[in-house]
Amino acid sequence: MMVPGEEGCVRTGAGRRGFVLWFTGLSGSGKSTLAQGVGQRLSERGWSVKSLDGDIMRQGLNSDLGFSDADRRENVRRLSEVAALFADSGFVVLTAAISPFRDGRQRARERIGADRFVEIWARADLAACEARDPKGLYQKARAGQLDGMTGISSPYEPPLACEIAIDTYVEAADTCVARILDWLTDAGYLQEGQEDAGETGESSEGKARA
Ligand code: ADX
Repeated sequence: MMVPGEEGCVRTGAGRRGFVLWFTGLSGSGKSTLAQGVGQRLSERGWSVKSLDGDIMRQGLNSDLGFSDADRRENVRRLSEVAALFADSGFVVLTAAISPFRDGRQRARERIGADRFVEIWARADLAACEARDPKGLYQKARAGQLDGMTGISSPYEPPLACEIAIDTYVEAADTCVARILDWLTDAGYLQEGQEDAGETGESSEGKARA
């Protein structure tokens, strides 16, 4: 478990340090659900949050990318660039992308800065994701109608040393979200800032933090 130091952290006009919660895991592992849940809780506490979901980013900025290894690396590179910019402005950024390759996630960590990068592994095994198959993609892949499906015909390299690993198919979603918030609190990410209202354009109601 890494504990962030204060040195080199960016503080914004809002007096808060931006950071990135980087959710990784197989398709259907619950990354987006976790990110949404954590984002909502942080937002209720007055944090400015920005969600960067792989599926949504692929409709816009990353719409020119497919699922080759090279395209996935580029997808992750762009996500990390955008995440870093938002973190620079004091946002809590929640990225949810399979981000299957260790080297890609490591590069994201380096680009964003290890002291404000929290890698969260939605640790669900392939059998569980495949059984649920919310988008029918695993079925298609098994039927030979979808190439390069992560976990089936394209690799997923699980984290060796992430900050948080969550067994999304074992614990209830609320419990998973609470565990992440507890970790962030213990690691000092959710400490009070010193000033209010700044670059993030935060409203007055956003100042009441839990
Ligand atoms: S990543 O590998 O480049 O990080 P990303 O998270 O952006 O992937 O996109 C994954 C989403 O794309 C999946 O949730 C799924 O909806 C869709 N998808 C379409 N084709 C594939 C595929 N071959 N492998 C994985 N996901 C796919």
